[in-house]
Amino acid sequence: MVEQDVIILANENFTGQYHRLVLQADRIAPQAQPGQFVHLRIPLLREALLRRPFSIYQVKDQTLSVLYKTVGKGTHQLARLKPGQMMNAIGPLGHGFTVPASPQIRPLLVAGGYGMAALYLLAERAPRAGVVFVGGRKQGDILCEAEFRALGWEVRAATEDGSYGRRGLVTLPLREELERDASGVRLYACGPTPMLKAVSALAHEFNVEAELSMDEHMCCGVGVCLTCVIPVRTSEGWEYQRTCTEGPVFTANSIAWEVMA
Ligand SMILES: Cc1cc2nc3c(=O)[nH]c(=O)nc-3n(C[C@H](O)[C@H](O)[C@H](O)COP(=O)(O)OP(=O)(O)OC[C@H]3O[C@@H](n4cnc5c(N)ncnc54)[C@H](O)[C@@H]3O)c2cc1C
Ligand code: FES
Repeated sequence: MVEQDVIILANENFTGQYHRLVLQADRIAPQAQPGQFVHLRIPLLREALLRRPFSIYQVKDQTLSVLYKTVGKGTHQLARLKPGQMMNAIGPLGHGFTVPASPQIRPLLVAGGYGMAALYLLAERAPRAGVVFVGGRKQGDILCEAEFRALGWEVRAATEDGSYGRRGLVTLPLREELERDASGVRLYACGPTPMLKAVSALAHEFNVEAELSMDEHMCCGVGVCLTCVIPVRTSEGWEYQRTCTEGPVFTANSIAWEVMA
């Protein structure tokens, strides 16, 4: 983990409400692992001390990029920043996804929203390509399809309004694939909590391993404030663990879903 001032190389609209921010981050980028994140201090934000966490999307040499959606004060301010401006970043943070050790493991990725960005490095570094199941409310929520296809991955989309791909939740085509063949499968997912819970239930039903990125609200991002805890099973029952340090990625069967609100 490194704290450094980084230079904005690009900050442009990607699609819809999503923007792509490219940072010159020579000490963070080379260390980044799939599923890790950076914690950015956004300049000229009144509450600038509160950083904002973003998954590391792509890494190339000394640069890294993130895909962010403008949802509130911080991300709207981020979208106003121009190439050449500096900001402070901490990263790479968190415990990310386990890259499959061998091509015997058949990776199936499941993404909602910016989950595609969080899963990209895993797809790039996996020893074999698999299938990415991507879901959203409408066509505009489906990100990075071309980028995953360019890596040789098959992309199956589902939208709730039926405007693109299958109509319905992303777990429908995922279920069909597991019914067809669940042998050697490992699931990796990032997206809204109800989606992660449904993926966890499918992993249990089909007896396959699953790793989930549990992106809770974060303040410090480095394990101090305990804002980001979730209940995780232990031999005695369960305990709270920090998604910023023990996570954000946890195995599906380690999460005490029955305790989560
Ligand atoms: C580990 C991690 C990785 C993330 N990666 C990405 C990413 O790659 N791309 C991306 O667009 N966003 C990502 N997020 C979410 C992102 O951090 C928030 O959207 C951002 O901090 C909102 O800041 P804001 O000041 O614009 O919004 P705020 O004014 O703080 O909040 C605006 C709205 O966004 C909601 N919100 C804030 N934080 C989160 C969160 N963590 N999860 C869900 N909703 C939230 C608030 O409840 C509120 O409704 C990630 C979050 C975590 C914890
Ligand atoms: S965000 Fe502070 S402990 Fe995780």
